[in-house]
Amino acid sequence: MIPQKTVQEILETAKIEDVIQDFVNLRRRGVNMIGLCPFHNEKTPSFTVSPAKNIFKCFGCGKAGDPAKFIMEHEHLSYPDALRYLARRYRIEIQEIEMTPEAVAQQQAEESLYILNEFARQFYQDQLFETDMGKSIGLSYFKGRGFREDTIRKFGLGYAPNEYEAFVKKATQAGYKLDFLKKLGLASQYDKDFFRNRVMFTIYNLSGKPIAFAGRIMEKDAKAPKYINSPETEIYVKNKVLYGAFHAKTAIRKADECILVEGYTDVISLHQAGIENVVASSGTSLTEGQIALIKRFTPNIKILYDGDSAGVKAALRGLDMVLEQDMNVRVVLIPDGDDPDSYLQKVGATAFQAFIDEQAKDFILFKTNLLLAETKGDPVRKAGLVRDIVDSISRVPDPFKRSFYVKECARVMELEEEVLISETNKAVRQILQKRDDARRKKPEVRVNIVPEGGDGEFPTEAPPDFQDFVPVGEPPSKRTAGHEFQERDIARILVEAGGKIYDEKENLTVAEFVLGNIEDVLEDFDNEAYKLIAKEAMQLVLDKQPINTQYFIGHSDQIISELAVDLLHSPWEYSPGWAERELYLSSQKMPEENFNKDSLSALLQFKLRKIIRLGEKNQLLLKAVPSDDPSQLMRLMKVQMKLNEMRNELMKQVGMVVLK
Ligand code: CTP
Ligand code: MN
Repeated sequence: MIPQKTVQEILETAKIEDVIQDFVNLRRRGVNMIGLCPFHNEKTPSFTVSPAKNIFKCFGCGKAGDPAKFIMEHEHLSYPDALRYLARRYRIEIQEIEMTPEAVAQQQAEESLYILNEFARQFYQDQLFETDMGKSIGLSYFKGRGFREDTIRKFGLGYAPNEYEAFVKKATQAGYKLDFLKKLGLASQYDKDFFRNRVMFTIYNLSGKPIAFAGRIMEKDAKAPKYINSPETEIYVKNKVLYGAFHAKTAIRKADECILVEGYTDVISLHQAGIENVVASSGTSLTEGQIALIKRFTPNIKILYDGDSAGVKAALRGLDMVLEQDMNVRVVLIPDGDDPDSYLQKVGATAFQAFIDEQAKDFILFKTNLLLAETKGDPVRKAGLVRDIVDSISRVPDPFKRSFYVKECARVMELEEEVLISETNKAVRQILQKRDDARRKKPEVRVNIVPEGGDGEFPTEAPPDFQDFVPVGEPPSKRTAGHEFQERDIARILVEAGGKIYDEKENLTVAEFVLGNIEDVLEDFDNEAYKLIAKEAMQLVLDKQPINTQYFIGHSDQIISELAVDLLHSPWEYSPGWAERELYLSSQKMPEENFNKDSLSALLQFKLRKIIRLGEKNQLLLKAVPSDDPSQLMRLMKVQMKLNEMRNELMKQVGMVVLK
């Protein structure tokens, strides 16, 4: 656990603009910075960062929060893990404190539930692959459904034998307590095996730990229920779990879309066919917790309904909730009699993919069309339909989207647009009023920090290795030191103009501006002397002491005082951008502006050099990747792309400063 004091320190240290600039290119605009939102697709930037308030907000998609929130959203981390990320970013040491005995006990209890479930998963898998009955009954069932062996293993499928105590015996012999078996629903209240004569599906949490099981009966038209499922436990909260999420999360992010199906078998079948961004809500209609889960990865949902699904209409109602979350919902009806699994097996992956791409209809329009067909021209029913549709549209938070729907739905329903507009506006006002009332009743709470369902089980996947983006820990080597010019420039700016006001509105000095931008790489200066100056200036900033040239020149440390003089006397001597600098210098009028642009330029050049060097280092790593490690290769390529992107953006910015 992270001590509260450290949490505080992290929150106070983390600078929103640094944190975000690791992922998003930001430009200054007045007191704020803007860039393209990483959470939704946009061409013109509406993603705004306020260094002064230390928050970000996207006026396009509405995402907003502090640095921790940004990392949680962007890296799909839990709150504690986002804090750890930030701590690493700012080199704040976390001394994880011991938990209370109760918390330890709680964690151990949970841990043992996972362990027992893992034992069970292994047991069912062994039964499937290693026993005669398992092979002839279970494995042949799965194979008959077209599941390959690698798929079967990947999804933790298994076989529960037709015996009363096979698992209970095995588990108790291995030392597991009956109480725990019962708690997890692996044993019945009579101490017998709960799952018998069924093929087994493991349900995983987002980190890939087994949290529950479902057992499917194999015979057709059996009297017993088709599936039986594990009960809810601390580690299995049904309405927050999506089947397949662990296997789908990366693909969902990549595709920026989540496909939602009804059944376990649909998930597995599509996944096996290469459509991996797919999850199932497991027979129930979508819950808020499940929506929140999807929203962490993408705002786009495509729902595939079984062709025979009697419940499409009922399901549609439940979807209004998704609209409120400002997610884009499209629906596809699988042709009659089939579910996604059987239809895919029938037509093949390519045709299936084409089908769902073509057939996907916007949810509200789909609903309008579907219900309209049912009114059969009856005016009373049509009035009901209008109310229903207005209700859906009014839940859409984005006014532009709303007006689009109003237009389209009016057209489909052959209504005057004005009617629909005024009805929708009324409904929107009601919603806002309700919200307002609710807010007034509730005491103010700090929002947007802990994720819904923030149970700490969010991806354990490593965040993009931070070390790749920021030069840390590398001892400065004389041979690679090509950065001295830039470092010298930074030192010069600090000595010459550190105390000058860089931004009047923000009351920001040049030193604060420059150091604020490079404080995380101060240790990585190649030149010890310039580092000394930078750190000295940093100390002054931290101590809130004034910075002026005289301070450096009169410094008791002879190295500093001599260097200060030296810096002041030959400002441009070594600078590689010399010619360009002259160009902009000659175009400048106000001396005040000079050091502003000067420091910005020095800063950008400095950053650019560091990025270029990182790129070179990464290139070397890339060359050294063994050919049998494609994932490492992918990772490094991604890093390279990111670095190139940053480099290009910096070059652009350098160019702008120089040429403006
Ligand atoms: N379900 C359940 N209990 C049942 C029936 C269904 O929990 N008695 C849930 C399961 O999550 C199931 C989903 O509802 O996956 C969809 O049901 P269905 O389409 O009947 O099952 P499939 O998994 O598609 O199975 P199959 O393709 O073998 O019919
Ligand atoms: Mn089905």
